[in-house]
Amino acid sequence: MRITVIVDNHASGDLLAEHGLALWIEARGRRVLFDTGAGRALAPNARALKIDLRAADTVVLSHGHYDHGGGLPAVLRSRPGPEVYAHPAAAQPRYAVEGGRARFIGLPTESAAAQARVPEEKLHWVAQPVGLGPGIGLTGCVPRETGYEDTGGPFFLDRGGQRPDPLEDDMAMWVATARGLVVCVGCSHAGIVNTLRHALKLSGADRLRAVLGGFHLMGAGEERLERTLRDLKALKPGRVAPCHCTGDEAARRLKDTFGKRYIAAAAGTRLAF
Ligand SMILES: [Fe+2]
Ligand SMILES: [Fe+2]
Repeated sequence: MRITVIVDNHASGDLLAEHGLALWIEARGRRVLFDTGAGRALAPNARALKIDLRAADTVVLSHGHYDHGGGLPAVLRSRPGPEVYAHPAAAQPRYAVEGGRARFIGLPTESAAAQARVPEEKLHWVAQPVGLGPGIGLTGCVPRETGYEDTGGPFFLDRGGQRPDPLEDDMAMWVATARGLVVCVGCSHAGIVNTLRHALKLSGADRLRAVLGGFHLMGAGEERLERTLRDLKALKPGRVAPCHCTGDEAARRLKDTFGKRYIAAAAGTRLAF
């Protein structure tokens, strides 16, 4: 399988960087666009990387935040159009509320409209685990079991900050390879350890080949970081490629912990497993 990072907070060469994530995954006969970035970077970066977004047969939305669903209109424009997988809660309004100020961080109106125009037979609502074929699948909702992991921010379903957003729509994608499981994560709002354990359990894989995506540890305190690193280590990942919302401090600690197994991923990074 091959993975190319199309959109990330960091970018190599002339590629655009933005707060967002989009991965191009070629695996098991499928061409999957996993998340779409915030919107601005997807099309130009795909062009520069010689990736034809119209060739995507599958689009997965890891969760309904603007920095993952902003590029949906660009990829859903093509006909006949890809199969689209998202959790029913991904399209709901949601906010970051800090210091009494609310910021809308849900799917932009144009993205929600583009998703609503997807033909009914091509739109797959995912809450439970779902297989995309032999050896490839989506986790659906990830059980929150570790106790020390949370959604990682001041996330609410209302502007007033009264109803916490559990980010129940957060899901990951897994691909089985001969040397273990490869897991792609969006923001890991369910917790990176929860997510990886769940993916391993669902797939039946006995080892973790690699994990790539946003670990969402930028606001994590020392205790959470320590426990996350300890539990990640116990999973013995072959490669750890954190990007997007992982946070600089957490990335540094992951690099210290995993040494040669650490990959600094950014837009333009190409990986093969
Ligand atoms: Fe994100
Ligand atoms: Fe997010």
